[in-house]
Amino acid sequence: MLELTRLTKTYSDAGGDTVFALKDVSLRCERGSFVVIVGSNGSGKSTLLNVIAGSDTPDRGTISIGGKTLTDLPEHRRATIIGRVFQNPFQGTIGDMTVMENLALASCCGRGFTLTQALSRALKNEIREKVAAIGIGLEDRLEQSMSTLSGGQRQALTMLMATWRKPRLLLLDEHTAALDPRSADLVLNLTGRIVAERGLTVLMVTHSMQHAVLFGQRLIMMHHGQIVYDIRDGEKRRARPSELISRFEELRRADRVDESVAGLLRDQYH
Ligand SMILES: Nc1ncnc2c1ncn2[C@@H]1O[C@H](COP(=O)(O)OP(=O)(O)OP(=O)(O)O)[C@@H](O)[C@H]1O
Ligand SMILES: [Mg+2]
Repeated sequence: MLELTRLTKTYSDAGGDTVFALKDVSLRCERGSFVVIVGSNGSGKSTLLNVIAGSDTPDRGTISIGGKTLTDLPEHRRATIIGRVFQNPFQGTIGDMTVMENLALASCCGRGFTLTQALSRALKNEIREKVAAIGIGLEDRLEQSMSTLSGGQRQALTMLMATWRKPRLLLLDEHTAALDPRSADLVLNLTGRIVAERGLTVLMVTHSMQHAVLFGQRLIMMHHGQIVYDIRDGEKRRARPSELISRFEELRRADRVDESVAGLLRDQYH
């Protein structure tokens, strides 16, 4: 369903050296698969999600969903089939609008309805029902401004909004990292429930090894812009946080060896 072919993205660092944020990344994800992405800071996870969503352009490579190539489509066109939730709980909702208005916007996104048309009685009822199903009483606060809610409450609503119109692909970039542990659990459980109920295809980035083993049927680990580890199904179910942490340590050790070799070569030739 999602097919990434040889994606490469480079940046220049402060010293003018080329950094490979993505290096020849290829990945195929079947429809309905929930893929968790882990990797150290700067390993290319956000860049991967950004180039899929179109907020960043790859230097090379292609992206397709359901056989349709997206590589040359602008971000706003991709947004009609790709849902996103970011780390910042204030990014996905509009603070100056009410909860109801935010959800109404999500329900009509890309269809060209005005807000007044969108807020029909039927839609209001549907919004009330879906918000009540989150289970934290927000159905009583539908007419309040979004800015009166906590980060966790806003992120739960952002999840609902990002999935309202059943995206072909859902991209979650550390979407619970800024929340307190209780809110993070709430948003993650809601994520799991919505994804399962609606059979969504998901890429979820996390730094939590606990969450990485608990969620999804497949796990990939990135390092220096490449996929270095890819497990699924039974192997994924058997994975433990300690094992993932050991893999990170192995990668760090290999980096330290590379750095010492590079240092020795520098000393020898300068
Ligand atoms: N706009 C940019 N300009 C320059 N370099 C960038 C830019 N965006 C990303 N990079 C670099 O690309 C590499 C990958 O960054 P990316 O944000 O994808 O990592 P990440 O895995 O999401 O890290 P984190 O876990 O910290 O969020 C890093 O070296 C980063 O410094
Ligand atoms: Mg990131």
